[in-house]
Amino acid sequence: MIKVFALPSTKVGPDIINALASLIPGSAGRISTTVFSDGETEVRFPESVRGESVFLIQSTHSPQAIMELLLACNAAHYASAKSITAVIPYFGYARQDRKSVARVSMGARLLADVLQAAGCTRVITMDLHAAQEQAFFSIPVDHVHATTLFIPYIQKLMDANLDKEYCIVAPDAGAAKNAELYSKALNLPLVLCHKHRSGPNQVDKIQVIGDVNHLHCILIDDIIDTAGTITKCANVLRFSGAESVTAMCTHPLLSGDAINTIDESHIDNLVCTDTTGPFQSPEFKNTNFIKLSISMLFAQVIVAAFQDKSIESLYAIDSH
Ligand code: R5P
Repeated sequence: MIKVFALPSTKVGPDIINALASLIPGSAGRISTTVFSDGETEVRFPESVRGESVFLIQSTHSPQAIMELLLACNAAHYASAKSITAVIPYFGYARQDRKSVARVSMGARLLADVLQAAGCTRVITMDLHAAQEQAFFSIPVDHVHATTLFIPYIQKLMDANLDKEYCIVAPDAGAAKNAELYSKALNLPLVLCHKHRSGPNQVDKIQVIGDVNHLHCILIDDIIDTAGTITKCANVLRFSGAESVTAMCTHPLLSGDAINTIDESHIDNLVCTDTTGPFQSPEFKNTNFIKLSISMLFAQVIVAAFQDKSIESLYAIDSH
C-alpha cells in the first residue's frame, strides 16, 4: 500500500496530494506534529504505516523543514514502513555542493547523509543545483527536470509568435549546461552570461557572451533568491539590444526585496514552477508572472516509483 504525507512546512504538498488522489484514490495519510514550548518538534503517524510504501513531501528550505523531514523519516523507519521516500520539490542547501572557499561547509552532502541516516530509502527531487549531487546519495534519486514543464511552454510561445526570434540565455557558467539542453531541444541560439561575484548573494558585474541584438531572450536559472543574478542579466541583455527578456526559474525563493527588484528590472515575463509554493502570486506592477504547477508531474513520479515503473517517459527530453 502507498501512503503519502504532506509535512507541515511544505506549501506545495497538499497540491501534490490532490493530484495524486486522481491517480490513486485514498493514498493520502495523516501525520501530526507537536511543537514544545522551547521549539522542539515531535512527529507522529496517528495510524499504522507498518509494511507501507511511505512518501513524505517536504522541501528543505529551512532548518525547521529539514528537521520535520528527518523526524518523519525516523518515525516511519521505527514504525516498520517498507520504504521511505523523501519527496523534496526544492532541495535547499544544494548550493553548498563543494569547497568553494577554504573551511566552508558542504550542506548538500551533509543533508544527503542525514536523510539516509534517518531511514530514507529513496529521494524524488527537482532540478538539483548541480545534477551530479545525485551521487552524494547511496540510495536511488529520481531527479525530475523542469524541462518537462518549461520546454512545452517555450515551444507554445514560439509557435504563437512566429515573427519573433528567440534565444536561450544562461545567467552564469553554472547554468550553461542546463541552458544548452534547452537550446538543443528547441533549436535556438545559446548566449552565455559571465557573472563576477563579490560574495554570497552579491553580483558585481555581468558580461554577455554572444549577440542578442533584436532577439527575445529566454533566461533560464534554477534559483531566484535575491534576484540579483537574474535582474542584472536581464538589464545587461536589454542594454545589449535584446527586444524582450523572459526569465524562467525552477525554484523561486524570492527572498528579501526580490519582488521589487524584479519589478524594477528589464524582466518582461517571469515564469516559475511552484516547488517553493504555491506562493501567493507575487504582486508585480510591471512584470507579467506565470506559474507552472509541478503537482501532476510529481504525482505521476510518485506513482511510477511506487509501481516500480520507469519515469523516463515523463521527461520532455533526455536531460541526463
Ligand atoms: C547560482 O549559482 C544559482 O544558480 C542562482 O543563480 C543564484 O542562487 C541566484 O541567487 P540570487 O537571486 O540571490 O542572485
